Amino acid sequence: MKKVKLSNRPFGPFPTVLAGVDVGGKPNYVTIGACGVVSLDAILYISLKSTHFSTRGVKENGYFSVNIPSADMVKLTDYCGVVSGTDTDKSKLFTAFYHEAGKAPMIKECPMNILCKVVNSIEMFGFEMFFGEIAAVYADEKCLTEGKLDPLKVNPMLMMGASYYDLGEVVGDLFKEGVKINNK
Ligand SMILES: Cc1cc2nc3c(=O)[nH]c(=O)nc-3n(C[C@H](O)[C@H](O)[C@H](O)COP(=O)(O)O)c2cc1C
Repeated sequence: MKKVKLSNRPFGPFPTVLAGVDVGGKPNYVTIGACGVVSLDAILYISLKSTHFSTRGVKENGYFSVNIPSADMVKLTDYCGVVSGTDTDKSKLFTAFYHEAGKAPMIKECPMNILCKVVNSIEMFGFEMFFGEIAAVYADEKCLTEGKLDPLKVNPMLMMGASYYDLGEVVGDLFKEGVKINNK
């Protein structure tokens, strides 16, 4: 198979999430792709440009939320990534709810919400990477199948290149596909 050389840029795929942060006592939401899991201990990271309005809020409160928008929320999700809380009030775009553990707004309209408590941070290349211990997780009841979270019902988005994509279909099962090779 012939390979072509591309520019040294991060193309993705990345998850599409909305981070929720209180800034000056008001909710603000920011679209991010730089979000992931750090370890099997329940730690997630988000990486935020130091100059973002939201970054101020994470530092103020020591909490952020990671909200998973479903594909039908693509317009509002993108909007949160093209306007800044510095000059546009994003607090009324969604219905905010809170958990007593920490001061970060979660988005009712998103099928999944994860509240994180900042346990560490690193400044790098004009960004701040916040490591957050999961303090609470919520999912819409309608996204459960037989009591278990059903990813196809959540229907999250990936970003890659210049577009957002939805989840598509199941192509294999974790820890089972590889075993099939050994069993051959
Ligand atoms: C698809 C997409 C992905 C983005 N990913 C990130 C990211 O991972 N980290 C980041 O700091 N900004 C990211 N941004 C940019 C911020 O969302 C954007 O600058 C936003 O307006 C900042 O809002 P705030 O100033 O209210 O915090 C992304 C924007 C889009 C549209």
